[in-house]
Amino acid sequence: MAHEFDRRYWDRVWSGAADAGNAGNAGDAGRASAMATSPPNPHLVREIAGLSPGTALEAGCGAGAEALWLASRGWRVTGVDIAAGALEVAARRAAAAGLVDRVSWLEADLSVWQPDGRFDLVTTHYAHPSVPQLDFYERLAGWVAPGGTLFIVGHLHHGGHGRHGAHPPAEASATAAGITAVLGQDRWEIATALQGSREMAGRGGAAVTVHDVVVRATRRS
Ligand SMILES: C[S@@+](CC[C@H](N)C(=O)[O-])C[C@H]1O[C@@H](n2cnc3c(N)ncnc32)[C@H](O)[C@@H]1O
Repeated sequence: MAHEFDRRYWDRVWSGAADAGNAGNAGDAGRASAMATSPPNPHLVREIAGLSPGTALEAGCGAGAEALWLASRGWRVTGVDIAAGALEVAARRAAAAGLVDRVSWLEADLSVWQPDGRFDLVTTHYAHPSVPQLDFYERLAGWVAPGGTLFIVGHLHHGGHGRHGAHPPAEASATAAGITAVLGQDRWEIATALQGSREMAGRGGAAVTVHDVVVRATRRS
């Protein structure tokens, strides 16, 4: 079932016009600025640092923290996002970091876009489009080259119907078991499947607790 997280919603988030917890309401620039200054996701840094670099797709790259971290480690990165405003910030960060030659930015809707080829690594961090979350992850999985890695960090589904802030939106969340079931262990070797909580800087720098699901899997063929 489609839900509200469409291009209009994300354009409003990145313009600072919409509060993530109140899509359509004006007045909160805090979420966009928090994402625009965030460091690379610690799960990515922990799980991917040991891989040999190749081609990578960062799906729903936002302001590019993870794409730029990958580029700084030698990956040739394509960062895709539906929101032009996010990509403008990402491109500025790439220039400031001296990484423009290693990363390209593409404005596209990942629920319909198709890449020309497959990637050695496909990553996504909290991207939730207007299609069912597990369908989105299955779509990303199809873009991983044989022997390549799929790395998902998402909002953990905990059975409630929360919104951003206290809880992630239920329709935009998943469990480790749900993701690994979609992948199938015949086609994928599951290296990591965990669920947990951590503290991070939220709007205005205030600490917030986020509940994460993390899956790293290697495509067998
Ligand atoms: C919660 S933000 C996370 C951004 C970044 N990955 C991070 O961790 O800071 C989700 C991102 O996914 C993007 N997004 C949502 N739906 C998308 C779609 N259908 N196609 C491409 N990007 C999408 C949004 O524009 C937004 O930048």
